[in-house]
Amino acid sequence: MLQPASTQAPADVAPRTAAVVDALRGLEGPLLPILHGLQEEFGYVPQESLPIVARALNISNAEAHGVASFYHDYRKAPAGRHVLKICRAEACQSMGSETIAARMEQLLGIRFGETSRDGAVTLEAVYCLGLCACGPSAMLDGRPIGRLDEEAIGEIVTAVRQ
Ligand code: FES
Repeated sequence: MLQPASTQAPADVAPRTAAVVDALRGLEGPLLPILHGLQEEFGYVPQESLPIVARALNISNAEAHGVASFYHDYRKAPAGRHVLKICRAEACQSMGSETIAARMEQLLGIRFGETSRDGAVTLEAVYCLGLCACGPSAMLDGRPIGRLDEEAIGEIVTAVRQ
């Protein structure tokens, strides 16, 4: 997988992880909220955080790793400067999203789940953005985009290269 050059965990990963764990461990079923909190804190879920989480929740490292890697939403490495999510759920598929997805991979030179080597963009799949009526849909840096067509694709590619 292509990743931006710097995927090393920050030096203070342990105390920042501990703070997230402490804030959320009291919740019922705390593992997912903690993983979510870590992604908010770091922009991804550092592998170095998982043993700390496992110890705090009294679960095995394998379980923590398993859950973190099961859910597509949890990144294993920092995202690029831009994050482009293309909806690949049914309603958007019926509007041609798979063609859009393939075209986007071709234009960006990366596959889904990858980040361009220059760190400019991460391409991710998402399964419904609540914009089904405007499909095929996408989200660029948190901004929803509906009715993707060749023109919109071109604009997105230009935007992420800036
Ligand atoms: S299926 Fe794509 S936004 Fe709902």
